[in-house]
Amino acid sequence: MRHETQVETLRQLLALRGEDRYQDMLGQVARMPVSNYTDEAIFEAEMATVFRDCPTVAGHASHVREPGACLVSDWDRFPFVVVRDGEGRLRAFLNRCRHRGARLVTQDAGARKIKAFVCPFHGWVYGLDGALRGITREHNFPCLDKSRYGLVELPVAEAGGLIWVHPTPGAAIDLADYLGPLAADFEHFDVDGHVSYRKSILVKNANWKLLLKTYLEGYHVPFLHRTTIAPAFRKGVLAHALHGPHIRIAAARSNILDVQEKDPERWRVLDYASVYYTLFPNTFFIMHPDYVSLNKFYPEGPDRTIWTHELLYRKELFQGEKGQEALAKRFAYTNDVVFDREDFAVAEDVQKGFGVSGDPWHTIGLEEGLLAIFQQSVDRGIGRDTVEFLAGDTWRQAV
Ligand code: FES
Ligand SMILES: [Fe+2]
Repeated sequence: MRHETQVETLRQLLALRGEDRYQDMLGQVARMPVSNYTDEAIFEAEMATVFRDCPTVAGHASHVREPGACLVSDWDRFPFVVVRDGEGRLRAFLNRCRHRGARLVTQDAGARKIKAFVCPFHGWVYGLDGALRGITREHNFPCLDKSRYGLVELPVAEAGGLIWVHPTPGAAIDLADYLGPLAADFEHFDVDGHVSYRKSILVKNANWKLLLKTYLEGYHVPFLHRTTIAPAFRKGVLAHALHGPHIRIAAARSNILDVQEKDPERWRVLDYASVYYTLFPNTFFIMHPDYVSLNKFYPEGPDRTIWTHELLYRKELFQGEKGQEALAKRFAYTNDVVFDREDFAVAEDVQKGFGVSGDPWHTIGLEEGLLAIFQQSVDRGIGRDTVEFLAGDTWRQAV
């Protein structure tokens, strides 16, 4: 985040510090149907639109620094592999063999460096450029034109320490345009200078949007997280910025008032706030004061989602045995306690209630407006409009 944006964000947070004040989001009470989280047709529409038309974060750049290093998808609906080729160029392919569709690189193998893609089924060999180089006992395939059986190449781009892939071959990725002013944030936070500590992959029995939306409001923090993170934050003090479907949130930490004692020249946003990014559609990125949480949500069905969480850190801040202990603590606390046992346990519980509790709507208060804004971005992608607003004593769709 540029320094002037950090100062501006901290000034916004200072202006909002009263308990009953908040940055205007929608300015209205809203509601949305719970069928957004249960309907098979909506799920399929999301798969066919936002999950096909948007580039998505493949992972952290540290995984593919060396030639032959791979970054493998955690989601079989979009089975990509990103590789650094012999010339140092980043390439992405569908991780599926052109013979009979076997997976070329497994998750574990992704950690090793490869010289070529060798299919585990019948041994076809592809170069790191995706070209089909060898067919086992090639006489079985007389007349087959090998040049037409290269791996399916996908658009890939790297910026600010993150690798992005596009699920549609031939599509363009323009991250400067897609992320707008948010793109500079990752560079200024030197996300590229971080390394991976650990990634967890879990299946959650809740809709992907329901899981992601737990991060989009601070209204629940003093209650759901009262014995964990709540004391670290100033109740309800969030500043947000939007660029297209992406959302940046800065949440004031409890020491926010101390910033006034310093010259703004020396203000650093992470000393007084945590900064969160929804990178549309399914990535949630958190700049904690001294580490990063990279969360991804991969829908498996309306009520089932693969959640991955990778902790990234700067080596110089966590050195030696003590550093490793501190990282283990942070990972267990953030991943197991706050996200899994608090946020996502509630999301799974809410999902269980759908169709049983009888209430077909979720009602969204003024401090929860980003939930509606996020839903509107998904709705735009799938050609629907499910958010309604309270006007007088009736609900209306926005005009
Ligand atoms: S499926 Fe890959 S070589 Fe047969
Ligand atoms: Fe939470």
